[in-house]
Amino acid sequence: MADGIKVRNCATMEVFNRQVEAFPEYRRAQASIENHINSLLDQSRSFRLSEPVKIQVVVHVVYHDETQNISEEQINSQIVVLNEDFRAMNPDRSKVPEVWSGLVADSLIGFELAKVGPNGEPTNGITRTETMVESFGTDDQVKDSARDGISPWATDRYLNIWVCSLGNSILGYAQFPGGPVETDGVVIDYRAFGTMGSAQTPFNLGRTATHEVGHYLNLSHIFGEGRGSSCSDSDYVKDTPNQLGPNYQKPSFPSISCDNGPHGDMFMNYMDYVDDDSMYMFTEGQVARISATMLGPRASLIQNERTEIYE
Ligand code: ARG
Ligand code: ZN
Ligand code: CA
Repeated sequence: MADGIKVRNCATMEVFNRQVEAFPEYRRAQASIENHINSLLDQSRSFRLSEPVKIQVVVHVVYHDETQNISEEQINSQIVVLNEDFRAMNPDRSKVPEVWSGLVADSLIGFELAKVGPNGEPTNGITRTETMVESFGTDDQVKDSARDGISPWATDRYLNIWVCSLGNSILGYAQFPGGPVETDGVVIDYRAFGTMGSAQTPFNLGRTATHEVGHYLNLSHIFGEGRGSSCSDSDYVKDTPNQLGPNYQKPSFPSISCDNGPHGDMFMNYMDYVDDDSMYMFTEGQVARISATMLGPRASLIQNERTEIYE
């Protein structure tokens, strides 16, 4: 890759662009991660984990009022969706257009709420923090115990997910691998988390977390990383068609841009911007990228004694 990094739009991109200014080593880490991924993918395009793994998750509920203090059932409903989506066991995968059904891929990554806390103590993998803050922004305040949020559990061992109220109709944002450890993880608005309770249509199928965890595992938006709409930027994934910009709501197939006919944009990909009920796949190429990330910059998530290997 040319000298590192990419510009990415959306709350996640905004945060990324701000953080690489503040932490130049994040930009360098991303560039070296990209090289590592590319060398693995050069060896095998359909690079995969050799066996299923489980990522330990801690959900930090940071609430200003009781509606934001979501139930354990609602949290569990989100874990179910993450497991279905990353294992390609989501029931709506049957909606993938036939031309792409062969590309749908299982990442072999599962998720479970941690049963052991950072100091070896038993836990249900959920923390609850009442806050003075009515609505958080994307400045990572929610990730800081000293600023009315809550600081992460060891980010090398746990996927930290903060659930709070985010302003400005932001559904969520993530941090890519290689960033500062104090803020590593994903943030999801309580109205876009899980499939029940405070989750609101059209973002009530848990796909915001699927999308943000995709970023956390180093996936880019399917429409590329340029500023605004462009056919000349890429998501660094070969089997996702080049597309002009984000799709929204519930597009109908085919939706053509960038000379990508007859099948057009793969708008039903989790890394586009469509409604939750209109996104239902990762591709082989995306899963190869995720797998390289799990063996590279995110390897510590599956190399600790608290990780159970399936079967
Ligand atoms: N635009 C948001 C971001 O990347 C996430 C979009 C998620 N889409 C969804 N249907 N839940 O920060
Ligand atoms: Zn995004
Ligand atoms: Ca592509």
